[in-house]
Amino acid sequence: MISPVSAEVGAEGRGERSIVIAHRGASAYLPEHTLPAKALAHAQGADFIEQDVVLTRDGIPIVLHDVHLDSTTDVASRFSGRERGDGRFYAIDFTLAEVQQLRAHERLNRDGRPVFPERFPAGPGLSQVPTLEEEIQLIDGLNRSTGRVAGLYIELKGFAFHAENGLDLAEAVINVLRDNQWDKRSDDVYLQSFEPAALRYLHDDLKTDLPLIQLLADSDDPDQTGDIDFGRLRTDEGLREIATYANGIGPSLNQLYQGKRGEVPVLTDLVARAHKARLLVHPYTLRADQLPDGISDFDELHRVLVDSLDVDGFFTDFPDRSATFLQSQSQSLGQSQSHE
Ligand code: G3P
Ligand code: CA
Repeated sequence: MISPVSAEVGAEGRGERSIVIAHRGASAYLPEHTLPAKALAHAQGADFIEQDVVLTRDGIPIVLHDVHLDSTTDVASRFSGRERGDGRFYAIDFTLAEVQQLRAHERLNRDGRPVFPERFPAGPGLSQVPTLEEEIQLIDGLNRSTGRVAGLYIELKGFAFHAENGLDLAEAVINVLRDNQWDKRSDDVYLQSFEPAALRYLHDDLKTDLPLIQLLADSDDPDQTGDIDFGRLRTDEGLREIATYANGIGPSLNQLYQGKRGEVPVLTDLVARAHKARLLVHPYTLRADQLPDGISDFDELHRVLVDSLDVDGFFTDFPDRSATFLQSQSQSLGQSQSHE
C-alpha cells in the first residue's frame, strides 16, 4: 500500500492563491541567477525565488543553472584551456576561489548570440556567480528590511553527475540550509529536482522536513532522459508513486495543454490527476516574450493556468507581471464578494 506524503505543506501559510516563483530571479530584466536579479524579484513581489544549484570542485553550492559555466559567464576567456574534451567548462572543475573571479552575463547560445536578444544587454558581466549561502543572506536581509518574506525554491542540478564525481549535492544543500537556519522552514523552502533518486534520497535518507517537488521533463526519449521514464511518472500510477516521496510536481507548460497558433488551447487532465493524488502542481515557465502557441497574451496564459487549471503556483521570468495579475484577480474577487 502506497501512503502519500502530505500535500498540506509549503504554501498554506500564504493563503489559497497560487504562488509566484521567480524563475532564476527576475530573469526577464537582469542576468539569471545574479544577486541583482534576485533582489529585483524580491522587490517585484515574488513569493519564492528560485535557485538552481551545482557544486564547485571544493564542494561549495553555487547558484548556476547548468553544470557548465560557459553559457552565462566569461569562463572561456578567463580560464582558456580548462575546458573538457566536449569543449565545455564544468563548474565542478573549478574551485570557489576561481568561480569568484568570473563575471555572470545574460545567457548566450553556443554560437555566442543571446538567447533572449531583447532582454538585458549581453555584454561583459557585471556580477559574480553567487554561492547559495550568499543568496540566502541576501534574501534573509531583504525579508528583514522590507518586512515581506520571500521563500527559497532550490533545484538540485545534476545529482547523479555530482555523485559520479564523488560529491553529495543534496547533503551540501541541506548543510547550507541548516547553517543558515532555513532547514526547518517548510513554509518558506521547496526543494526540486528532475531526478527521482535525488528526491528519494532527501526524503528517505536525509529525512528532510522540507517539501519536495518532482520536476517532469517534456521528453520521453531515453537518449535525453537516461533511465528516468517521465511518461510513466505522468500516469496515475506514476503520480501515486511520486506522492510517496514528494509533495508536488513541476511539469512544463506543454504538459498542461496542447495549443496551436490561432486556436483555443486544449487542456490536459494532468493537473486534476495530480491533485487527486494529493500533489501540488507548480508548472514552468511563464515568459511574456515567448508565449506558447495558442496563447495571445500574457494575462491569458495566467488565466489558463490559474482560472482554468487551478495550479498551486508557477515559475515566471516576469514576477512583477505575475504578481500584478494575481493581485488584480484577488481585488476583483473581493469586489464581487462584497456585492453579494
Ligand atoms: O525548476 C523549474 C524549471 O526551472 C525547470 O527548468 O531548466 O529552467 O531549471 P529549468
Ligand atoms: Ca530550475
